[in-house]
Amino acid sequence: MRVAVIGLGVIGVGHVWLLKERNEDVVAVCDVDEKKLSAFPNIKGYQDYLQMMDEVKPEVVHICTPHYLHTEMVTSALKRNIHVLCEKPLCIKKEDIPVILQAEKESKAKLGVCFQNRYNLSSLFVKEWLKGKTILSARGCLCWNRDENYYGQAEWRGVKKTEGGGVLINQAVHTVDLLQWFVGMPKSVVGWCENVSLKGVIEVEDTAMLTCMGDVDFSLCATTSAKDDYPTQIVVVTSDGEIRVTDNDVYINGELVNKNSSKESFIKKVYGEGHKALISDFYDCIKTGRDFAIDGKEGLKAVKIVLATYESDGKETKI
Ligand SMILES: NC(=O)c1ccc[n+]([C@@H]2O[C@H](COP(=O)([O-])OP(=O)(O)OC[C@H]3O[C@@H](n4cnc5c(N)ncnc54)[C@H](O)[C@@H]3O)[C@@H](O)[C@H]2O)c1
Repeated sequence: MRVAVIGLGVIGVGHVWLLKERNEDVVAVCDVDEKKLSAFPNIKGYQDYLQMMDEVKPEVVHICTPHYLHTEMVTSALKRNIHVLCEKPLCIKKEDIPVILQAEKESKAKLGVCFQNRYNLSSLFVKEWLKGKTILSARGCLCWNRDENYYGQAEWRGVKKTEGGGVLINQAVHTVDLLQWFVGMPKSVVGWCENVSLKGVIEVEDTAMLTCMGDVDFSLCATTSAKDDYPTQIVVVTSDGEIRVTDNDVYINGELVNKNSSKESFIKKVYGEGHKALISDFYDCIKTGRDFAIDGKEGLKAVKIVLATYESDGKETKI
């Protein structure tokens, strides 16, 4: 298919690699930073994404830009009936949610969100194992390191207006998404967010705790103030026992049943191996007309939980 990628930073370059590996026709790339375009001398480069979409008329665009740009880029592509695969999070403001859903409804094109961890073999194993079981509760724990150097990589990071938040909307949004995917969408949340280790460096939280209430309650502790990136853990408790994912390995009642931790990851270990499978599924949906599972409504679930947590400040808040 004729594809364009917008944003050629850490993840955008990876999207271009994967598209080339799939033999898709990457007809254009776009980045406001001219230096980033020079990495792809054989692909037509643009600094203005609207000009690119109007001139090149790609069938699909991948949006790999800073968070605050996602809504306007997604809706602009959908209005032009261009299929969109957007990196997480779909948006960072509550008022953008209906705007995205309306644009998706009015478009002939598909919208997909890059929650690639749903395609990790460990996640698929858990989802399958949970089928037909009574789920009692769940919990997640993310302990990573994102220091001053990380935040210094780009101006949009660590700023409320452009990143939308810190650990919760950026790193832990994947864990929030998996938790709600495994046990169901909650109705309310109580949460606390704090800047523990980067006061004066970032204006967003590096640590968050939340408990979600719904048919099944779940909790999450997340911090990027740890000394290193430790394996993320998710536990789901059922009436038939406990299933746990640590470092992409799956344990049932403490016994290893599905080992994936040594498998190759995409760019960084913490990104997991799901990007390739997600992109493959998205393109198959476009080609066959099948619905893509992580569409606007589905991709916004974790965003809704995160935004309600920011609002909560220790009080139970409706999601
Ligand atoms: N799914 C994952 O596991 C995963 C991993 C990393 C990043 N991400 C997401 O991908 C997105 C990008 O993250 P990143 O780490 O690659 O950021 P980055 O800062 O490395 O890259 C962003 C790029 O967008 C470009 N850009 C900024 N404004 C632009 C505009 N108006 N038009 C075109 N290009 C523009 C920048 O110049 C930069 O090259 C974010 O949403 C992030 O959360 C997802």
